[in-house]
Amino acid sequence: MKVLVVGSGGREHAIIWKLKRDNPEILLYCAPGNSGMREMAVIVPISANDMHGLAAFAKREHIDLTIVGTEEPLVRGIVNYFEKENLRIFGPTKKAALLEGSKAYAKGFMEKHHIPTASCAVFHDYENASAYARDHGAPLVVKADGLAAGKGVLVCETFEQADNALRRLLLDQQFAEAGEKVVVEDKLEGPEVSVLAFCDGKTLALMASAKDYKRALDGDKGANTGGMGAVSPAPGYTPEIEKACMREIFMPTLEALKGEGIVYKGIIYFGLMLTSSGPKVIEYNCRLGDPEAQAVLPRLRTNLLDVILAVVNGELDKISLEWDGRASACVVLASDGYPGSYIKGRSISGLQQTPERLLVFHAGTAEETGADGASCTVTNGGRVLDLVCLGEDAESAARAVYEAVPAISFQGMMYRKDIGNGAEALGEC
Ligand code: AMP
Ligand code: GLY
Repeated sequence: MKVLVVGSGGREHAIIWKLKRDNPEILLYCAPGNSGMREMAVIVPISANDMHGLAAFAKREHIDLTIVGTEEPLVRGIVNYFEKENLRIFGPTKKAALLEGSKAYAKGFMEKHHIPTASCAVFHDYENASAYARDHGAPLVVKADGLAAGKGVLVCETFEQADNALRRLLLDQQFAEAGEKVVVEDKLEGPEVSVLAFCDGKTLALMASAKDYKRALDGDKGANTGGMGAVSPAPGYTPEIEKACMREIFMPTLEALKGEGIVYKGIIYFGLMLTSSGPKVIEYNCRLGDPEAQAVLPRLRTNLLDVILAVVNGELDKISLEWDGRASACVVLASDGYPGSYIKGRSISGLQQTPERLLVFHAGTAEETGADGASCTVTNGGRVLDLVCLGEDAESAARAVYEAVPAISFQGMMYRKDIGNGAEALGEC
């Protein structure tokens, strides 16, 4: 069987690793991929957003299944296009992916179907948005409507910060089209949990929970990033809370999708906040989280390919997901300056001999040939490497990762030192 994975980050590396581990015989391709995947997959130099190029490649190479890891092609409609071309693909259609592609749409969907979320207002112009923020009062969260790689959300403690965020989005067009519309919503308080699920349009199969460390710096300080680390399971996500989420969020979302005539096939990601008045949805995503996938997939015992094929065939009810009882922790090694600007092309050392229990997923790396003709791995992104270990609990899993970190280095390497801290203290399920 030939499988093409679309994307180039640590999440896609984790997908490839899991597929290969479960099915050593399959032939894997990744477009555009990164240098860490070379041992397991053929790297195909086609952009993730070039759906015509990808479909032509899939036809030419007789690819049996395409798995879309990243959101932008999904939001642009790669699934509709592949299906029109009679190519088998895993992921939600363009209409279904709007749950991630437009925050205004997702908020309207939740409001209409009474799914708990922060109350909000949507604006196209600065004057009205700013007046609303002044009247409503801080704290507020200002969000670009469209895709912004995890950087389009600004948590504002004061009116001045909110006004500044609105200026950046609506007047300075910092996020271009993605910020032409903004959502201004109430700031919620509480621990965050990411719950990912497979969905075939009729059945939801929930994955083990995860906690994403979104802020750039220790102690949840600094700017929001795509994610600086993750642990699974998520601290504080008890069986009672899971039950409440099932009743108030997960099943109502599935029913609402059905009610809207959307057959949602793929991954649905529930970004939740556990507030004092119950769990609320912060966001939906239409694919695996990054770095949540790197923490969750190593715990999945079930063959990932079987689950994906069951989704595509509408037979998810026949699958039961099995999980490794151990916890996992993922620490992201990033380039100094991320999520702002950073320098690429710095050579990475220490990747040849890493401890056996350490999983190394490449996120932003490339292969370069030096003056001596030898090739070396260099940094090629803000998030560079994802290091993952399993352990008795999240804290000991993280400790094992941190023990391995000093052997790996590149100029300007930065990472959070508090992944997994205090995880068991909060109780987990
Ligand atoms: P989003 O892309 O919508 O998930 O937002 C990114 C991050 O911003 C979330 O993971 C939260 O940490 C924070 N955030 C978003 N919306 C809210 C909110 N209403 N209240 C508090 N924090 C939020
Ligand atoms: N880690 C957050 C996301 O994947 O959206």
